[in-house]
Amino acid sequence: MLIALGVTGGIGAYKAVEVARGLQKHGHEVVAVMTHSATRFVGPVTFEAITRRPVITDQFAEGMNADIEHIAIASTIDLLLIAPATANIIGKLANGIADDFLSTLYTATRAPVLIAPAMNSQMFAHAAVRKNLDTLVARGARFVEPGEGYLACGWIGKGRLAEPDEIIAAAEEILRPESPLRGQRVLVTAGPTYEDFDPVRFIGNRSSGKMGFALAAEAAHRGAEVSLIVGPTELEPPSVREVVRVRTASEMHQAVMSRASDMHVVIMAAAVADYMPERAPQKVPKGADTLTLVLHKTPDILGDLGHRRLASGRGPALIGFAAETQDVVARAIEKRAKKHVDLIVANDVARTDAGFDVDTNAVTIVTADGAESLPLQSKTNVAGEILNRVERLLSGSRSAESASPVRG
Ligand code: C5P
Repeated sequence: MLIALGVTGGIGAYKAVEVARGLQKHGHEVVAVMTHSATRFVGPVTFEAITRRPVITDQFAEGMNADIEHIAIASTIDLLLIAPATANIIGKLANGIADDFLSTLYTATRAPVLIAPAMNSQMFAHAAVRKNLDTLVARGARFVEPGEGYLACGWIGKGRLAEPDEIIAAAEEILRPESPLRGQRVLVTAGPTYEDFDPVRFIGNRSSGKMGFALAAEAAHRGAEVSLIVGPTELEPPSVREVVRVRTASEMHQAVMSRASDMHVVIMAAAVADYMPERAPQKVPKGADTLTLVLHKTPDILGDLGHRRLASGRGPALIGFAAETQDVVARAIEKRAKKHVDLIVANDVARTDAGFDVDTNAVTIVTADGAESLPLQSKTNVAGEILNRVERLLSGSRSAESASPVRG
């Protein structure tokens, strides 16, 4: 996406450099438009070096009008972001004054407008500024509220430019295409389960929860209401609507089954134990040279969900994982059919750069349409790829009957 970053003459102008970099990191192109007074705070060369584009500083500067790209930006930009926006530019935009490139661009473009005001707190509270802000809001402009704190002028109060991360997140929110996941209830499981065989010992696995956390965070980012059911892990879960901590496969089964009928999507990313030992009431003493544990099959959560949906004809879209060390894809295809689920994400946990407890993953996505291998990439990106396919399931005809929650 192409973003025009308008920079006006406030002390926060230096933060706009970070904003430009952050937007680029999210894959956007940035063209900086500076007002005359902004150039008193930060040199245009800084923005030029970062954006790798000429910086637009003056409508009438020689050479400025020879470049067709500059003149065309009103119709080619996807967003006009102004950070920091002074009381002066806000007043000009609200009143249709177009006396420099930035204010002219505002009137000429039909791209969404995002404004991050920054000024002295008394100015921000002034009736004239409030009225101008209201006018811009009524016209559809979006705002990133200034923060409270020490202002450059020595006052303490509201007026400090919002932090770059906040501004970037607000821009991303506007630029993100409307997701079919918006407003959908999505349940994600993450992490391992621990199966106790006496009061102090358990059988577990090396799952960290990272893949499930990335999925939960990305689903929430796309507007879903996320319930995260998480097994024992040291990692901090992302902040989503509901986080439920469980320990064993049976507890996870209970937590998932009791919520599933209310969900549009269930993603079982947890590495659920397949077997649980019989639990001794007291610590098993050290004695003979060998110790035999008797293991019983745990409830198959995903399998139960698949069969329940098959029997009732309704239920959430079902996504499972298949962690294997051999015949990864073949087993995933088999599993998808056996458990009656929509999509299986197969990963080879024998690799050291993918699967358990690392930040990257290389997966094959198995759907009714076949198997599709994705290259090694961050778990965040893998989560995005998986959710792109979940979105297709939700909006596709195949999901019309299956991806509606069972009610009542
Ligand atoms: O059958 P298998 O354990 O290989 O299937 C893996 C998938 O099934 C994963 O999505 C996992 O979260 C889920 N699973 C489950 N209940 C179990 C074991 C695995 O839901 N008891």
